[in-house]
Amino acid sequence: FTISTSKEGIFSTYQNQDFWALREECLQNGTVFLDPLFPAEPGSLGFKELGPLSAKTRGVEWRRPTELAAQPRFIVGGATRTDICQGALGDCWLLAAIGSLTLNQQLLHQVVPGGQDFSHLYAGIFHFQFWQFGQWVDVVIDDRLPVKDGELLFVHSAEGSEFWSALLEKAYAKLNGSYEALSGGSTTEGFEDFTGGVAEMYELKTAPRDLYRIMGKALERGSLLGCSIDITSAFDMEAITFKKLVKGHAYSVTGVRQLEYRGRQERLIRIRNPWGQVEWTGAWSDSSSEWNAIDSAEKDEMLCKMEDGEFWMSFQEFLNQFSRLEICNLTPDALSQDATSFWTTVTYEGSWRKGSTAGGCRNHPMGSSLK
Ligand SMILES: *[C@@H]1O[C@H](CO)[C@@H](O)[C@H](O)[C@H]1NC(C)=O
Ligand SMILES: *[C@@H]1O[C@H](CO)[C@@H](O)[C@H](O)[C@H]1NC(C)=O
Repeated sequence: FTISTSKEGIFSTYQNQDFWALREECLQNGTVFLDPLFPAEPGSLGFKELGPLSAKTRGVEWRRPTELAAQPRFIVGGATRTDICQGALGDCWLLAAIGSLTLNQQLLHQVVPGGQDFSHLYAGIFHFQFWQFGQWVDVVIDDRLPVKDGELLFVHSAEGSEFWSALLEKAYAKLNGSYEALSGGSTTEGFEDFTGGVAEMYELKTAPRDLYRIMGKALERGSLLGCSIDITSAFDMEAITFKKLVKGHAYSVTGVRQLEYRGRQERLIRIRNPWGQVEWTGAWSDSSSEWNAIDSAEKDEMLCKMEDGEFWMSFQEFLNQFSRLEICNLTPDALSQDATSFWTTVTYEGSWRKGSTAGGCRNHPMGSSLK
């Protein structure tokens, strides 16, 4: 990595590719960028299911947005969840994390630097920033995207001519070696790479007794909270329950609130479906009768702030219905609003050494990596 400082802040350039220098060179050469380090070749797609000569990649061609849409745009009217529609890749975890990211404009702007488009200073080159090993890393890509039968193979926007999400996915694929490397993962991994935060996960079946308090604290600190319902088979993916909760789908937790209800304290939790629609229909949902017993001023205050896709439910019901809660605590690097209290971080530099600290994931525990 090379450390650079620019108007975008302090970061490293991935594989020494400097976005501004490369773009300037292309503009002077009068050419569009061709990335030699993540070429438009089968190897960039994958190695197994998406490997060279695999059925899924047969007939794939690489096209620039300028060849795919009459008037391609980078971002139209702000980045939103509907810009992210999953393609033929099992990276819903990444897309859910990108979806949460669109809720936090400040973080989004860090990952997706502004000033990029297909008109002004366009040279077929784009860049994104990810948090890697304790620092922001700037990843450059060319804008050739894999296409099959005229359609983008992977992420695409709902309306088809907006490309920030597909290009962001490509940059993340480059960082991981190939698109296929993104298949399968947890939202937490995406949260961490997009925020530089530290994530923790709770199985709700065995939740600690003070989880409600933990969640309140986390929200106060500005942490990102996500929750989901496990699926038991791929068939269950995005199946919708009787009371309109979506399985195998990532939700954001956006608030907690205790109120007086029929002479006792009721603990509520506010959840948002990043689709911006399909809401819980059980107790404490938008038009449920529980609200009739609530002081109307308080009710108005709680309900009028709601956006589409957002709803309240009781904490107990949340524990019953959902399987998992993920909390990503933002470090000071990712937060600068002083409205929230900050974490203190200490960084130690180190490296993996063969024979002493070099390990691996549980598939390749220490030792086997020595072979
Ligand atoms: C610009 O043109 C020069 C000379 O042909 C070439 O060596 C260089 O790689 C080009 N730069 C880019 C970014 O394409
Ligand atoms: C992608 O690579 C980054 C950095 O090397 C890593 O943090 C992340 O876990 C990888 N994700 C996948 C799915 O390989």
